Amino acid sequence: MTNSPLPTGDEKTRQVRAMFDAIAGRYEMVNRLMTLGLDARWRRRAVADLRLPAHSLVLDVAAGTGDFARELERQAHCAVATDLSYGMLHAGREMPRRVQADASSMPFATGRFDGLTCGYALRNFTDLAATFDEMARVLRPGGRLSLLEVAEPEKGLLRAGFRVWFRRVVPFIGSLVSDRAAYHYLPRSTAYLPSSAAIVAMLNSSGFSAVNHRRVMGGLSQQFIATRSL
Ligand SMILES: C[S@@+](CC[C@H](N)C(=O)[O-])C[C@H]1O[C@@H](n2cnc3c(N)ncnc32)[C@H](O)[C@@H]1O
Repeated sequence: MTNSPLPTGDEKTRQVRAMFDAIAGRYEMVNRLMTLGLDARWRRRAVADLRLPAHSLVLDVAAGTGDFARELERQAHCAVATDLSYGMLHAGREMPRRVQADASSMPFATGRFDGLTCGYALRNFTDLAATFDEMARVLRPGGRLSLLEVAEPEKGLLRAGFRVWFRRVVPFIGSLVSDRAAYHYLPRSTAYLPSSAAIVAMLNSSGFSAVNHRRVMGGLSQQFIATRSL
């Protein structure tokens, strides 16, 4: 995926799955380096923002190796992890319940979950609107959604520094310790991401209300929080 046009449709699904299968073993290590460990704090807050009582049943969509699922369990929820990539689910440590599935068509009953998390995966979905519809379907009315996604600071030194870090340093580190093509694809994949306003509108039309967008740490990351409409 280095310099070729970004794939779409079934070809995107195929390439994304193959890429994550290939990088699964070192995914968490590169993630920690890439975010300087800050992602753990962002996930903690994103789970707390679900504002669900203990022992709620929460689905972690595109769970990867399970960072979010483990945080859900730490905060006393019952987590189910689902992901397209068998390699990512298999590489995850101490992940209790894992289901391999495409997020746009998940094998779960309608209204089954009290909450849903999804970390850094929106860019990777082939059909984002269908995936939001599916997230709404598996959540019970009143159920809560908390999504994290990459972002870019809006201005100033933080923006300039972030650009160098994300577009140059991260692909370099990724090439050294993992897979060159995958970590060159990472900054390019932001081209798939609609604006935050467009994502808010999509969530509203998929059946969510009280949709809230928040920039995290000056825009180093972003979060969407919403409630499944009654
Ligand atoms: C950047 S990783 C994020 C993993 C994890 N959520 C985290 O926060 O570390 C993106 C994940 O999305 C998964 N993914 C991509 N397309 C998917 C799809 N259509 N359905 C389900 N998972 C998908 C990938 O396999 C990968 O594990």
